[in-house]
Amino acid sequence: MHEYRISWRNPLVRWSISMLVALTVLCLLVGFLWLPSVHKDFTAQGLWASICRAAGVPSAWQVGGAAAPLPPQATQVALDRSMVRSAGSDSVGRGATLALNCTMCHGAQGMSTSNAPNLAGQYPEVVIKQLRDYKAGKRASPIMVAISKSLSERDIDDLAAYYTSLPKARTAPTTYDESLPALVRVGAPLRNIAPCISCHGGVDQKLGAPWIEGMPKVYLVEQLRAFRSGGRRSDIEGQMRAVARTLTDAEIDEVSTFYAGKAAVAGR
Ligand code: HEC
Ligand code: HEC
Repeated sequence: MHEYRISWRNPLVRWSISMLVALTVLCLLVGFLWLPSVHKDFTAQGLWASICRAAGVPSAWQVGGAAAPLPPQATQVALDRSMVRSAGSDSVGRGATLALNCTMCHGAQGMSTSNAPNLAGQYPEVVIKQLRDYKAGKRASPIMVAISKSLSERDIDDLAAYYTSLPKARTAPTTYDESLPALVRVGAPLRNIAPCISCHGGVDQKLGAPWIEGMPKVYLVEQLRAFRSGGRRSDIEGQMRAVARTLTDAEIDEVSTFYAGKAAVAGR
């Protein structure tokens, strides 16, 4: 009977171990030197990504991976009472000059005749927050992201001071009354939806909630749909996303018609 022992003296063992080492070296050379040199993609994302790809696991676990453009994200703006402080008259004057670049879409007096939002009488902290969000790419809009890029912090503050100084008297504020749509007046308690007037004025105005009376209907519908789908997601603590999440198309249409229609009611 033969005794099989693994011994370096055994030529078969010597041969197989040498072959194993040689194969390993060959594989490393092919994988890390030859393939990357003929196929640029192999090293494009770095060694770690190559290893992960070979093993079949994603190198970055977020959706889209590192290379995909980031979707709009949560805002970085912290609302601050100082944003509300009335600015000096030089601020308003400077803002008025800067606003000449905005009239084409937002109207000569901040009342839009297209489907862009009105800015006349808008709360200063809203204009500041939204412009900062666009500038940081937190709120998506190719037009506004491009425009806000060239605005300095001072420009943004002055624009806000100017717009808030314009009369919003052409749109009537909402006051509580039984004829208001239910969503506006009492919300939908079973779906955890607070009434619009508890934040947008009427009963209370939460810091950062925009003046929406008299806004173009198309704009209101678009924004509510964007909150619903998460396309607009820079609202602090998801306040509007929580409201819009379960709204139906018909409900969005109803509240938008209501708020857009407030313009006609204003007599002053
Ligand atoms: C070419 C048209 C255009 C111009 C010019 C323009 N805007 Fe806008 N703006 C828009 C549109 C459209 C929106 C809505 C975008 C969206 O869906 O987020 C908007 C949104 C805004 C908002 C958000 C309002 C809200 O209620 O949330 C602010 C603030 C604003 N613009 C300020 C400005 C200022 C200040 C300027 C000038 C420096 C300016 N815009 C120039 C088209 C324009
Ligand atoms: C809990 C408070 C709260 C409630 C309730 C609420 N909102 Fe808002 N809403 C906000 C805030 C805050 C924003 C500003 C979000 C941001 O920073 O982008 C906003 C933004 C909006 C905008 C975008 C306006 C613009 O100019 O950009 C619309 C439209 C809107 N709300 C409609 C409604 C409607 C309609 C209801 C009722 C069905 C409602 N909201 C209920 C807090 C609220």
